[in-house]
Amino acid sequence: MPKRSSFLTLAAIDLDRSEPTALHRQLYYRLSNAILTRRLVPGTRLPPTRALAAELGVARNTVVNAFEQLLAEGYIEGKVGSGTYVSHALPDDVLQTRAKSSPPTRAISSSAALSKRGAIIASAPAKQWQDSGRPRAFRPGIPALDEFPFETWRQLANKRWRTLARDSLSYGEPEGYRPLRQAIVAYLGQSRGVRCEPEQVIVVAGSQQALDLAARLLLDPGDVVWMEEPGYRGARGALLAAGAKLVPVPVDAEGLRVDIGIRKAKAARVAYVTPSHQYPLGVTMSLARRLKLLEWAARSNAWILEDDYDSEYRYSGRPLTALQGLDTANRVIYIGTFSKVLFPALRLGYLVVPPNLVDAFIAARAMADRQSPVLDQAVLADFIAEGYFARHLRHMRALYAERRAALVDAVNRELDGMLEITSEQAGLHVMARLPQSIDDREVARRAATHNVEAPALSDYALTHLAYGGLVLGYAAVNENEIREGVRRLELAIKNRSNKITKSAFAD
Ligand SMILES: Cc1ncc(COP(=O)(O)O)c(C=O)c1O
Repeated sequence: MPKRSSFLTLAAIDLDRSEPTALHRQLYYRLSNAILTRRLVPGTRLPPTRALAAELGVARNTVVNAFEQLLAEGYIEGKVGSGTYVSHALPDDVLQTRAKSSPPTRAISSSAALSKRGAIIASAPAKQWQDSGRPRAFRPGIPALDEFPFETWRQLANKRWRTLARDSLSYGEPEGYRPLRQAIVAYLGQSRGVRCEPEQVIVVAGSQQALDLAARLLLDPGDVVWMEEPGYRGARGALLAAGAKLVPVPVDAEGLRVDIGIRKAKAARVAYVTPSHQYPLGVTMSLARRLKLLEWAARSNAWILEDDYDSEYRYSGRPLTALQGLDTANRVIYIGTFSKVLFPALRLGYLVVPPNLVDAFIAARAMADRQSPVLDQAVLADFIAEGYFARHLRHMRALYAERRAALVDAVNRELDGMLEITSEQAGLHVMARLPQSIDDREVARRAATHNVEAPALSDYALTHLAYGGLVLGYAAVNENEIREGVRRLELAIKNRSNKITKSAFAD
Protein backbone atom coordinates (compact mmCIF):
# COMPACT_ATOMS: atom_id res chain seq x y z
CA MET A 1 0.00 0.00 0.00
CA PRO A 2 1.59 3.30 -1.01
CA LYS A 3 2.45 5.56 1.85
CA ARG A 4 1.18 9.11 1.77
CA SER A 5 3.82 11.75 1.59
CA SER A 6 4.45 13.96 4.49
CA PHE A 7 3.90 17.52 3.41
CA LEU A 8 6.18 18.45 6.25
CA THR A 9 9.11 16.65 4.62
CA LEU A 10 8.44 18.29 1.32
CA ALA A 11 7.85 21.68 2.83
CA ALA A 12 11.42 21.47 4.11
CA ILE A 13 12.46 21.78 0.49
CA ASP A 14 13.67 25.33 0.25
CA LEU A 15 14.15 26.82 -3.18
CA ASP A 16 16.53 29.73 -3.49
CA ARG A 17 15.39 32.45 -5.89
CA SER A 18 18.76 34.18 -5.80
CA GLU A 19 20.51 31.10 -7.24
CA PRO A 20 21.18 31.17 -10.98
CA THR A 21 19.80 27.60 -11.27
CA ALA A 22 16.19 27.54 -12.52
CA LEU A 23 13.56 26.69 -9.90
CA HIS A 24 12.41 23.47 -11.61
CA ARG A 25 16.06 22.26 -11.70
CA GLN A 26 16.46 23.12 -8.02
CA LEU A 27 13.30 21.19 -7.16
CA TYR A 28 14.47 18.26 -9.24
CA TYR A 29 17.86 18.24 -7.44
CA ARG A 30 16.27 18.50 -3.98
CA LEU A 31 13.82 15.67 -4.65
CA SER A 32 16.31 13.33 -6.35
CA ASN A 33 18.70 13.93 -3.47
CA ALA A 34 15.96 13.19 -0.92
CA ILE A 35 15.23 9.91 -2.76
CA LEU A 36 18.90 8.90 -3.02
CA THR A 37 19.51 9.58 0.65
CA ARG A 38 16.27 7.77 1.67
CA ARG A 39 14.60 10.77 3.15
CA LEU A 40 11.86 9.79 0.70
CA VAL A 41 11.60 6.00 0.68
CA PRO A 42 10.36 3.83 -2.20
CA GLY A 43 6.60 3.82 -2.43
CA THR A 44 6.16 7.26 -0.92
CA ARG A 45 3.45 9.12 -2.71
CA LEU A 46 4.42 12.58 -3.88
CA PRO A 47 1.85 15.31 -3.37
CA PRO A 48 -0.27 16.50 -6.30
CA THR A 49 1.64 19.01 -8.42
CA ARG A 50 -0.91 21.80 -7.80
CA ALA A 51 -0.73 21.36 -4.02
CA LEU A 52 3.06 21.21 -3.96
CA ALA A 53 3.26 24.31 -6.17
CA ALA A 54 1.04 26.17 -3.72
CA GLU A 55 3.10 24.89 -0.79
CA LEU A 56 6.37 26.07 -2.33
CA GLY A 57 4.95 29.28 -3.78
CA VAL A 58 5.95 28.45 -7.36
CA ALA A 59 4.07 28.02 -10.63
CA ARG A 60 2.52 24.58 -11.18
CA ASN A 61 4.59 24.18 -14.33
CA THR A 62 7.75 24.37 -12.25
CA VAL A 63 6.63 21.30 -10.30
CA VAL A 64 5.39 19.49 -13.41
CA ASN A 65 8.76 20.03 -15.13
CA ALA A 66 10.66 18.72 -12.10
CA PHE A 67 8.38 15.64 -11.79
CA GLU A 68 8.67 14.85 -15.48
CA GLN A 69 12.42 14.88 -15.24
CA LEU A 70 12.29 12.58 -12.19
CA LEU A 71 9.92 10.28 -14.04
CA ALA A 72 12.12 10.21 -17.15
CA GLU A 73 15.17 9.28 -15.06
CA GLY A 74 13.33 6.58 -13.07
CA TYR A 75 13.32 8.23 -9.63
CA ILE A 76 9.54 8.15 -9.51
CA GLU A 77 6.81 6.13 -11.21
CA GLY A 78 3.18 6.69 -12.02
CA LYS A 79 1.79 9.56 -14.05
CA VAL A 80 2.38 13.23 -13.42
CA GLY A 81 -1.04 14.76 -12.77
CA SER A 82 -2.69 11.60 -11.47
CA GLY A 83 -0.39 10.19 -8.81
CA THR A 84 3.36 9.66 -8.59
CA TYR A 85 5.38 7.48 -6.19
CA VAL A 86 9.01 7.09 -5.33
CA SER A 87 10.21 4.25 -7.52
CA HIS A 88 10.57 0.74 -6.12
CA ALA A 89 13.11 -0.10 -8.78
CA LEU A 90 16.01 1.72 -7.12
CA PRO A 91 18.49 -0.75 -5.59
CA ASP A 92 18.04 -0.67 -1.84
CA ASP A 93 21.67 -1.36 -0.84
CA VAL A 94 22.91 1.54 -2.94
CA LEU A 95 20.37 3.82 -1.31
CA GLN A 96 21.44 2.66 2.16
CA THR A 97 25.11 3.45 1.45
CA ARG A 98 24.26 6.83 0.03
CA ALA A 99 22.13 7.67 3.04
CA LYS A 100 25.08 6.97 5.33
CA SER A 101 27.80 8.72 3.33
CA SER A 102 28.85 12.14 4.53
CA PRO A 103 28.49 15.13 2.25
CA PRO A 104 31.55 15.76 0.04
CA THR A 105 33.94 18.45 1.22
CA ARG A 106 36.64 20.34 -0.66
CA ALA A 107 39.29 19.61 1.93
CA ILE A 108 41.95 17.32 0.51
CA SER A 109 42.23 14.19 2.63
CA SER A 110 44.17 10.98 2.38
CA SER A 111 41.10 9.42 0.78
CA ALA A 112 41.63 11.76 -2.17
CA ALA A 113 44.53 9.34 -2.84
CA LEU A 114 46.69 11.80 -4.68
CA SER A 115 49.99 10.70 -6.14
CA LYS A 116 53.14 12.11 -4.52
CA ARG A 117 53.35 14.54 -7.41
CA GLY A 118 49.66 15.35 -7.00
CA ALA A 119 50.13 16.13 -3.33
CA ILE A 120 52.95 18.57 -4.15
CA ILE A 121 50.82 20.25 -6.79
CA ALA A 122 47.82 20.45 -4.47
CA SER A 123 49.91 22.15 -1.79
CA ALA A 124 50.69 25.11 -4.07
CA PRO A 125 48.76 28.27 -3.26
CA ALA A 126 47.04 28.48 -6.66
CA LYS A 127 44.67 31.28 -5.77
CA GLN A 128 47.36 33.76 -4.88
CA TRP A 129 47.34 34.90 -8.50
CA GLN A 130 43.64 35.46 -8.58
CA ASP A 131 42.62 39.10 -8.57
CA SER A 132 39.23 40.47 -7.81
CA GLY A 133 38.14 44.01 -8.42
CA ARG A 134 40.42 46.87 -9.30
CA PRO A 135 44.08 46.22 -8.48
CA ARG A 136 45.21 47.73 -5.18
CA ALA A 137 48.53 49.23 -4.26
CA PHE A 138 51.05 47.46 -4.34
CA ARG A 139 50.26 44.06 -5.83
CA PRO A 140 53.32 43.09 -7.89
CA GLY A 141 53.22 41.86 -11.46
CA ILE A 142 50.02 43.53 -12.65
CA PRO A 143 50.24 46.02 -15.55
CA ALA A 144 48.07 49.13 -15.98
CA LEU A 145 44.93 47.32 -17.06
CA ASP A 146 42.88 50.48 -17.48
CA GLU A 147 45.40 51.77 -20.04
CA PHE A 148 45.05 48.78 -22.31
CA PRO A 149 43.73 49.84 -25.77
CA PHE A 150 40.54 47.90 -25.43
CA GLU A 151 38.79 49.45 -28.39
CA THR A 152 41.65 48.66 -30.79
CA TRP A 153 41.74 45.06 -29.57
CA ARG A 154 37.97 44.79 -29.97
CA GLN A 155 38.11 46.06 -33.54
CA LEU A 156 40.91 43.67 -34.46
CA ALA A 157 38.99 40.78 -32.89
CA ASN A 158 35.80 41.72 -34.78
CA LYS A 159 37.72 41.89 -38.01
CA ARG A 160 39.26 38.49 -37.36
CA TRP A 161 35.88 36.92 -36.66
CA ARG A 162 34.60 38.28 -39.96
CA THR A 163 37.53 37.01 -41.98
CA LEU A 164 38.70 33.87 -40.18
CA ALA A 165 38.82 30.91 -42.56
CA ARG A 166 36.52 28.04 -41.54
CA ASP A 167 39.41 25.61 -41.36
CA SER A 168 40.97 27.77 -38.62
CA LEU A 169 38.23 26.46 -36.35
CA SER A 170 39.76 23.00 -36.37
CA TYR A 171 42.87 21.85 -34.46
CA GLY A 172 45.79 24.11 -35.30
CA GLU A 173 49.54 23.86 -34.92
CA PRO A 174 50.37 23.03 -31.29
CA GLU A 175 53.50 25.17 -31.56
CA GLY A 176 51.33 28.19 -32.31
CA TYR A 177 49.94 30.35 -35.09
CA ARG A 178 52.77 30.88 -37.56
CA PRO A 179 52.36 34.65 -38.19
CA LEU A 180 52.47 35.19 -34.43
CA ARG A 181 55.65 33.14 -34.09
CA GLN A 182 57.21 35.16 -36.92
CA ALA A 183 56.22 38.41 -35.22
CA ILE A 184 57.74 37.16 -31.94
CA VAL A 185 61.04 36.31 -33.68
CA ALA A 186 61.27 39.78 -35.22
CA TYR A 187 60.44 41.48 -31.94
CA LEU A 188 62.89 39.42 -29.87
CA GLY A 189 65.69 39.88 -32.39
CA GLN A 190 65.32 43.64 -32.34
CA SER A 191 64.68 44.28 -28.68
CA ARG A 192 66.31 41.43 -26.77
CA GLY A 193 69.09 40.14 -28.97
CA VAL A 194 67.46 36.71 -29.03
CA ARG A 195 68.61 34.76 -32.09
CA CYS A 196 66.21 32.15 -33.38
CA GLU A 197 64.09 30.84 -36.24
CA PRO A 198 60.27 30.76 -36.06
CA GLU A 199 60.55 26.95 -35.79
CA GLN A 200 62.15 27.37 -32.36
CA VAL A 201 59.28 29.44 -31.00
CA ILE A 202 56.46 27.65 -29.20
CA VAL A 203 53.46 29.68 -28.17
CA VAL A 204 52.20 28.69 -24.73
CA ALA A 205 49.57 29.73 -22.19
CA GLY A 206 51.88 32.19 -20.38
CA SER A 207 55.22 31.65 -18.66
CA GLN A 208 53.67 29.31 -16.16
CA GLN A 209 52.93 26.73 -18.81
CA ALA A 210 56.40 27.22 -20.26
CA LEU A 211 57.94 26.49 -16.85
CA ASP A 212 55.68 23.51 -16.31
CA LEU A 213 56.46 21.96 -19.70
CA ALA A 214 60.19 22.58 -19.33
CA ALA A 215 60.25 21.09 -15.84
CA ARG A 216 58.38 17.99 -16.94
CA LEU A 217 60.47 17.46 -20.06
CA LEU A 218 63.89 18.07 -18.58
CA LEU A 219 63.74 16.76 -15.03
CA ASP A 220 63.40 13.39 -13.37
CA PRO A 221 62.26 13.22 -9.75
CA GLY A 222 65.25 14.00 -7.53
CA ASP A 223 67.15 15.98 -10.17
CA VAL A 224 68.88 19.04 -8.76
CA VAL A 225 67.93 22.56 -9.84
CA TRP A 226 69.54 25.88 -8.96
CA MET A 227 66.81 28.20 -7.79
CA GLU A 228 67.40 31.92 -7.37
CA GLU A 229 67.18 32.77 -3.66
CA PRO A 230 64.90 34.63 -3.15
CA GLY A 231 63.00 33.69 -6.29
CA TYR A 232 59.76 33.45 -8.22
CA ARG A 233 57.19 31.21 -6.54
CA GLY A 234 55.54 30.19 -9.81
CA ALA A 235 58.82 28.68 -10.99
CA ARG A 236 59.45 27.07 -7.62
CA GLY A 237 56.04 25.39 -7.78
CA ALA A 238 56.47 24.07 -11.31
CA LEU A 239 59.92 22.69 -10.55
CA LEU A 240 58.83 21.05 -7.30
CA ALA A 241 55.83 19.55 -9.03
CA ALA A 242 58.22 17.83 -11.44
CA GLY A 243 60.01 16.31 -8.46
CA ALA A 244 63.04 18.61 -8.57
CA LYS A 245 65.34 19.00 -5.60
CA LEU A 246 65.78 22.74 -5.31
CA VAL A 247 69.14 24.16 -4.29
CA PRO A 248 68.77 27.81 -3.29
CA VAL A 249 71.54 29.94 -4.83
CA PRO A 250 71.83 33.48 -3.45
CA VAL A 251 71.50 36.58 -5.57
CA ASP A 252 73.63 39.70 -5.03
CA ALA A 253 73.89 43.04 -6.83
CA GLU A 254 75.25 41.25 -9.93
CA GLY A 255 72.61 38.54 -10.00
CA LEU A 256 72.91 34.81 -9.32
CA ARG A 257 76.05 33.78 -7.41
CA VAL A 258 77.21 31.26 -9.99
CA ASP A 259 80.29 30.44 -7.90
CA ILE A 260 78.09 29.41 -4.97
CA GLY A 261 75.86 27.38 -7.28
CA ILE A 262 78.89 25.48 -8.55
CA ARG A 263 80.17 24.96 -5.03
CA LYS A 264 76.81 23.68 -3.78
CA ALA A 265 75.67 21.60 -6.75
CA LYS A 266 78.01 21.52 -9.73
CA ALA A 267 76.11 18.71 -11.40
CA ALA A 268 72.68 20.37 -11.31
CA ARG A 269 70.49 19.64 -14.35
CA VAL A 270 68.81 23.03 -14.56
CA ALA A 271 69.31 26.62 -13.38
CA TYR A 272 66.27 28.91 -13.16
CA VAL A 273 67.14 32.61 -13.60
CA THR A 274 65.53 36.01 -14.25
CA PRO A 275 68.64 37.85 -15.53
CA SER A 276 67.04 41.04 -16.94
CA HIS A 277 65.31 41.99 -13.71
CA GLN A 278 65.67 39.47 -10.94
CA TYR A 279 62.37 38.55 -9.34
CA PRO A 280 61.86 39.82 -6.71
CA LEU A 281 65.12 41.68 -5.91
CA GLY A 282 65.08 43.71 -9.13
CA VAL A 283 68.80 43.49 -9.95
CA THR A 284 70.22 42.86 -13.43
CA MET A 285 72.69 40.05 -13.95
CA SER A 286 76.08 41.42 -14.97
CA LEU A 287 77.71 40.36 -18.21
CA ALA A 288 80.48 38.59 -16.30
CA ARG A 289 77.93 36.47 -14.41
CA ARG A 290 76.01 35.73 -17.60
CA LEU A 291 79.12 34.40 -19.28
CA LYS A 292 80.05 32.38 -16.22
CA LEU A 293 76.58 30.84 -16.03
CA LEU A 294 76.66 29.94 -19.73
CA GLU A 295 80.10 28.43 -19.37
CA TRP A 296 78.97 26.26 -16.46
CA ALA A 297 75.87 25.11 -18.36
CA ALA A 298 77.87 24.25 -21.46
CA ARG A 299 80.45 22.35 -19.46
CA SER A 300 77.97 20.40 -17.34
CA ASN A 301 75.34 19.86 -20.00
CA ALA A 302 72.85 21.68 -17.80
CA TRP A 303 69.87 23.68 -19.00
CA ILE A 304 69.26 27.32 -18.20
CA LEU A 305 65.65 28.46 -17.87
CA GLU A 306 65.79 32.16 -18.69
CA ASP A 307 62.54 33.77 -17.51
CA ASP A 308 62.44 37.18 -19.23
CA TYR A 309 59.05 38.17 -17.81
CA ASP A 310 59.27 41.99 -17.79
CA SER A 311 62.43 42.96 -19.66
CA GLU A 312 60.45 45.35 -21.88
CA TYR A 313 60.48 47.86 -19.05
CA ARG A 314 63.80 49.54 -18.42
CA TYR A 315 63.80 53.21 -17.58
CA SER A 316 67.48 54.04 -17.82
CA GLY A 317 70.31 52.61 -19.87
CA ARG A 318 70.03 49.87 -22.43
CA PRO A 319 68.99 46.31 -21.57
CA LEU A 320 71.68 43.66 -21.71
CA THR A 321 71.37 41.04 -24.41
CA ALA A 322 69.36 38.04 -23.24
CA LEU A 323 71.35 34.98 -22.17
CA GLN A 324 69.84 33.19 -25.14
CA GLY A 325 71.59 35.62 -27.50
CA LEU A 326 74.98 34.95 -25.86
CA ASP A 327 74.59 31.19 -25.75
CA THR A 328 76.78 29.33 -28.24
CA ALA A 329 76.14 25.86 -26.81
CA ASN A 330 72.33 25.68 -27.11
CA ARG A 331 71.76 25.36 -23.37
CA VAL A 332 69.23 28.18 -22.88
CA ILE A 333 65.47 27.82 -22.87
CA TYR A 334 64.11 31.33 -23.16
CA ILE A 335 60.67 32.18 -21.75
CA GLY A 336 58.65 35.30 -22.49
CA THR A 337 55.10 36.38 -21.70
CA PHE A 338 52.48 38.87 -22.84
CA SER A 339 51.06 39.03 -19.30
CA LYS A 340 53.06 42.11 -18.35
CA VAL A 341 53.12 43.94 -21.68
CA LEU A 342 49.43 43.37 -22.45
CA PHE A 343 47.34 41.68 -19.75
CA PRO A 344 47.61 38.46 -17.72
CA ALA A 345 44.18 37.07 -18.64
CA LEU A 346 45.29 36.82 -22.27
CA ARG A 347 47.30 33.72 -21.25
CA LEU A 348 49.76 33.93 -24.10
CA GLY A 349 53.50 33.57 -23.79
CA TYR A 350 56.27 31.78 -25.65
CA LEU A 351 59.29 29.57 -25.40
CA VAL A 352 62.37 29.80 -27.58
CA VAL A 353 64.06 26.42 -27.38
CA PRO A 354 67.26 24.97 -28.86
CA PRO A 355 66.61 23.15 -32.18
CA ASN A 356 67.14 19.70 -30.65
CA LEU A 357 64.34 20.28 -28.13
CA VAL A 358 61.74 21.68 -30.54
CA ASP A 359 59.91 18.44 -31.25
CA ALA A 360 59.87 17.40 -27.60
CA PHE A 361 58.33 20.73 -26.55
CA ILE A 362 55.75 20.58 -29.33
CA ALA A 363 54.76 17.08 -28.22
CA ALA A 364 54.55 18.19 -24.58
CA ARG A 365 52.37 21.15 -25.51
CA ALA A 366 50.07 18.98 -27.56
CA MET A 367 49.74 16.51 -24.69
CA ALA A 368 49.06 19.23 -22.12
CA ASP A 369 46.26 21.10 -23.89
CA ARG A 370 46.79 20.86 -27.67
CA GLN A 371 47.27 24.56 -28.46
CA SER A 372 46.41 28.15 -27.56
CA PRO A 373 43.17 29.60 -28.95
CA VAL A 374 43.75 30.53 -32.58
CA LEU A 375 41.61 33.66 -32.52
CA ASP A 376 43.56 35.26 -29.67
CA GLN A 377 46.84 34.41 -31.36
CA ALA A 378 45.66 35.90 -34.65
CA VAL A 379 44.45 39.09 -32.99
CA LEU A 380 47.75 39.42 -31.18
CA ALA A 381 49.68 38.87 -34.42
CA ASP A 382 47.65 41.70 -36.00
CA PHE A 383 48.14 43.89 -32.94
CA ILE A 384 51.90 43.51 -33.34
CA ALA A 385 51.99 43.72 -37.17
CA GLU A 386 49.90 46.89 -37.29
CA GLY A 387 52.17 48.72 -34.86
CA TYR A 388 49.81 48.85 -31.85
CA PHE A 389 52.08 46.70 -29.72
CA ALA A 390 55.08 49.01 -30.14
CA ARG A 391 52.89 52.05 -29.46
CA HIS A 392 51.38 50.52 -26.34
CA LEU A 393 54.84 49.60 -25.06
CA ARG A 394 56.15 53.14 -25.57
CA HIS A 395 53.13 54.56 -23.77
CA MET A 396 53.44 52.09 -20.87
CA ARG A 397 57.16 52.65 -20.52
CA ALA A 398 56.62 56.37 -20.02
CA LEU A 399 53.71 55.81 -17.64
CA TYR A 400 55.51 53.22 -15.49
CA ALA A 401 58.61 55.41 -15.30
CA GLU A 402 56.40 58.14 -13.81
CA ARG A 403 54.67 55.76 -11.42
CA ARG A 404 57.98 54.30 -10.32
CA ALA A 405 59.36 57.80 -9.71
CA ALA A 406 56.24 58.68 -7.69
CA LEU A 407 56.69 55.58 -5.54
CA VAL A 408 60.41 56.11 -4.98
CA ASP A 409 59.81 59.76 -4.16
CA ALA A 410 57.00 58.99 -1.68
CA VAL A 411 59.01 56.22 0.00
CA ASN A 412 62.12 58.40 0.29
CA ARG A 413 60.10 61.27 1.73
CA GLU A 414 57.68 59.43 4.01
CA LEU A 415 59.57 56.31 4.92
CA ASP A 416 63.17 57.47 5.06
CA GLY A 417 65.06 55.20 7.40
CA MET A 418 62.31 52.61 7.34
CA LEU A 419 62.32 51.41 3.74
CA GLU A 420 65.21 51.49 1.30
CA ILE A 421 64.57 50.86 -2.38
CA THR A 422 67.34 48.69 -3.72
CA SER A 423 66.17 47.53 -7.15
CA GLU A 424 67.16 48.95 -10.51
CA GLN A 425 65.14 51.27 -12.70
CA ALA A 426 63.25 48.53 -14.48
CA GLY A 427 60.20 46.32 -14.38
CA LEU A 428 56.85 46.71 -12.68
CA HIS A 429 57.90 46.50 -9.04
CA VAL A 430 60.56 47.63 -6.60
CA MET A 431 62.19 45.77 -3.76
CA ALA A 432 62.08 47.86 -0.60
CA ARG A 433 64.39 46.68 2.10
CA LEU A 434 63.38 46.85 5.77
CA PRO A 435 65.76 47.39 8.68
CA GLN A 436 67.11 44.13 10.03
CA SER A 437 65.19 44.33 13.27
CA ILE A 438 61.84 44.23 11.49
CA ASP A 439 59.97 41.08 10.55
CA ASP A 440 58.74 41.61 6.99
CA ARG A 441 55.93 39.06 7.30
CA GLU A 442 54.53 40.95 10.22
CA VAL A 443 54.68 44.23 8.27
CA ALA A 444 52.96 42.55 5.30
CA ARG A 445 50.18 41.33 7.60
CA ARG A 446 49.76 44.78 9.11
CA ALA A 447 49.79 46.38 5.66
CA ALA A 448 46.94 44.09 4.65
CA THR A 449 44.86 45.40 7.54
CA HIS A 450 45.44 48.89 6.09
CA ASN A 451 44.24 47.62 2.70
CA VAL A 452 47.70 47.55 1.15
CA GLU A 453 49.25 44.52 -0.51
CA ALA A 454 52.95 44.41 0.20
CA PRO A 455 54.24 40.84 -0.03
CA ALA A 456 57.10 40.02 2.31
CA LEU A 457 60.45 39.23 0.72
CA SER A 458 60.81 36.26 3.08
CA ASP A 459 57.87 34.58 1.38
CA TYR A 460 59.92 34.30 -1.81
CA ALA A 461 62.78 32.51 -0.09
CA LEU A 462 63.49 28.88 0.71
CA THR A 463 65.90 29.77 3.51
CA HIS A 464 66.09 32.45 6.18
CA LEU A 465 67.27 35.70 4.56
CA ALA A 466 69.74 38.10 6.19
CA TYR A 467 67.21 40.92 5.88
CA GLY A 468 63.53 41.38 5.13
CA GLY A 469 61.77 43.58 2.64
CA LEU A 470 58.58 44.34 0.80
CA VAL A 471 57.88 43.74 -2.87
CA LEU A 472 55.93 46.73 -4.14
CA GLY A 473 54.24 46.73 -7.54
CA TYR A 474 53.48 50.18 -8.92
CA ALA A 475 52.30 49.66 -12.50
CA ALA A 476 48.60 48.99 -11.94
CA VAL A 477 47.78 51.99 -9.73
CA ASN A 478 47.87 55.74 -10.33
CA GLU A 479 50.08 58.25 -8.56
CA ASN A 480 47.42 59.24 -6.00
CA GLU A 481 46.90 55.61 -5.09
CA ILE A 482 50.65 55.18 -4.82
CA ARG A 483 50.98 58.11 -2.40
CA GLU A 484 48.01 56.92 -0.37
CA GLY A 485 49.48 53.41 -0.31
CA VAL A 486 52.78 54.71 1.03
CA ARG A 487 50.94 56.66 3.74
CA ARG A 488 49.20 53.46 4.80
CA LEU A 489 52.45 51.52 4.69
CA GLU A 490 53.93 54.10 7.01
CA LEU A 491 51.16 53.37 9.51
CA ALA A 492 51.78 49.64 9.16
CA ILE A 493 55.52 49.97 9.77
CA LYS A 494 55.40 52.68 12.42
CA ASN A 495 52.83 50.85 14.51
CA ARG A 496 55.29 48.02 14.51
CA SER A 497 58.25 49.98 15.83
CA ASN A 498 59.11 53.61 16.52
CA LYS A 499 62.79 53.15 17.05
CA ILE A 500 64.32 52.68 13.64
CA THR A 501 67.55 54.31 12.61
CA LYS A 502 69.37 54.39 9.30
CA SER A 503 72.18 52.22 10.63
CA ALA A 504 69.59 49.46 10.90
CA PHE A 505 70.26 48.74 7.21
CA ALA A 506 73.76 47.49 7.93
CA ASP A 507 74.54 44.26 6.10
C1 LIG B 1 59.23 36.01 -12.53
C2 LIG B 1 57.92 35.89 -13.24
N1 LIG B 1 57.83 35.10 -14.31
C3 LIG B 1 56.68 35.00 -14.99
C4 LIG B 1 55.56 35.69 -14.63
C5 LIG B 1 54.34 35.69 -15.51
O1 LIG B 1 53.61 34.58 -15.51
P1 LIG B 1 52.52 34.29 -16.64
O2 LIG B 1 53.12 34.54 -17.99
O3 LIG B 1 52.22 32.85 -16.42
O4 LIG B 1 51.35 35.19 -16.41
C6 LIG B 1 55.58 36.48 -13.50
C7 LIG B 1 54.34 37.14 -13.04
O5 LIG B 1 54.22 37.67 -11.99
C8 LIG B 1 56.80 36.60 -12.81
O6 LIG B 1 56.87 37.40 -11.74
